[in-house]
Amino acid sequence: MLYQGGNLPYRIMSSILRDLGNRLVLRYLRKTDINSLKEHVKLVHGEWVGGIIQRMLDHYPKFSMKDNFVVVDTKDEKIVAYLCLMRRTFVLNGVKIPVGQMDIVGTHPDYRNRGLIRQLNEVLEEKVAKYKLQLLSIAGIPYYYRQFGYEFAVPMTQGLPIPTERIPELKEDEEEPVTFEQVTKHTFPDYLACRAKNNSFLDLYYELGSEHFLFYSTGEFREPESLRFYIVKQKDQVVGAFYLGIDFGTLVVKELWLQDIQMIPPVLRFLKTKVQEHKCPLKICPPSKPSLMPRLEGLAGAKLRDTYAWYIRIPSIRKFLETITPVLEKRLSNSEFQGMTDTLKLSCYREGFELVFREGRLTDITKLAIHKLQQMEVRLPPLVINQLLMGYRTITELQEIYSDVLCYSTKQALVEVLFPKIRASITPSF
Ligand SMILES: CC(C)(COP(=O)(O)OP(=O)(O)OC[C@H]1O[C@@H](n2cnc3c(N)ncnc32)[C@H](O)[C@@H]1OP(=O)(O)O)[C@@H](O)C(=O)NCCC(=O)NCCS
Repeated sequence: MLYQGGNLPYRIMSSILRDLGNRLVLRYLRKTDINSLKEHVKLVHGEWVGGIIQRMLDHYPKFSMKDNFVVVDTKDEKIVAYLCLMRRTFVLNGVKIPVGQMDIVGTHPDYRNRGLIRQLNEVLEEKVAKYKLQLLSIAGIPYYYRQFGYEFAVPMTQGLPIPTERIPELKEDEEEPVTFEQVTKHTFPDYLACRAKNNSFLDLYYELGSEHFLFYSTGEFREPESLRFYIVKQKDQVVGAFYLGIDFGTLVVKELWLQDIQMIPPVLRFLKTKVQEHKCPLKICPPSKPSLMPRLEGLAGAKLRDTYAWYIRIPSIRKFLETITPVLEKRLSNSEFQGMTDTLKLSCYREGFELVFREGRLTDITKLAIHKLQQMEVRLPPLVINQLLMGYRTITELQEIYSDVLCYSTKQALVEVLFPKIRASITPSF
């Protein structure tokens, strides 16, 4: 039975998407729900997460009320489950990919295990199709999102803990060689230019623009993804950049780039003042200049490990391959397969594609009939294929892990070239 809504005006009725029975209604967020949403988020995710809601609604680019989906108990109009869809752009070797991120997913403890997030995810997927998003990402809890077609496919690190007692002191006769400027709305373009230049060692990253500044910089510092961007200067020249955030009670430094390794101790001394100010431990995530890492590890007396991963969903493999065609062609042209004319039959058991290459160009990607899938040259289980397509693991690594990842020996080298392991970082997290 469709929820009748009494005499509610059409404007309100139109936000209703599903009647879930038992007084529960799935609908878009309304302005009158915002306080209830903040309470819901605080209860489910913690006090500090509540603050992000207003910031997202006020400032997150391309984010509207209709990107927010709630389940409401009509008994008291309280929100009992929520998730939202944020839009981001990833850049893969110069090619922009429209991405969606399901976020702040949560159900009130009294309403769990009734399929509410499953239902919310279904309506979110309709929006994903409407927005023509090519990938979905989420930094989610273990296992859960596999049920919705996600697979771990982009590395995530917890960061390298830096004990402040190991940070070298400034000697009495020395002066710091650099200064630190917190980035403002006016200097954010300089920061972004520096970031774009120094992200160049990454194959895949998240593109930030001026439109993101207010979202990241207006919240209280302890809220998730409330960031402080810094530029490091030496005699008016930009010689470094990084940003700070507090993740689960730890001060985390991300996207650290420094022109010179000698600048690490001054940066750490600056960070020590922030640790004292915020009274929390310090971690550094992999820097935007990989050569800084060994020195940081040496100072920390520890090694950095990738401890988790981002979930990725690929709504349409064919469309994703079409989007990244320039990347595939470039990889081919930089290899022994330059100028190749051949085909590659790639399957994830439930569906398969023939990639047609002519003189080094990927000219066609055809979906193949189900009865042809057994003749496929490369076969990976449905979600495992995400790991290959996202460059998280190579075909050879996947064959070592999964007995049902198969590849004709005649195509192995080609698949290694088309889908190599890439360097990826998709911070900031929102
Ligand atoms: C995880 C959480 C969002 C699940 O919400 P929910 O409304 O109970 O989820 P659903 O009932 O729609 O779950 C869908 C399926 O997953 C199962 N499931 C529920 N919680 C699960 C969990 N933590 N791990 C694995 N599976 C789970 C359900 O049984 C259901 O299975 P079924 O469809 O085969 O019956 C909810 O427990 C929660 O809010 N937790 C605290 C906040 C949190 O961790 N959020 C996620 C942040 S990434």
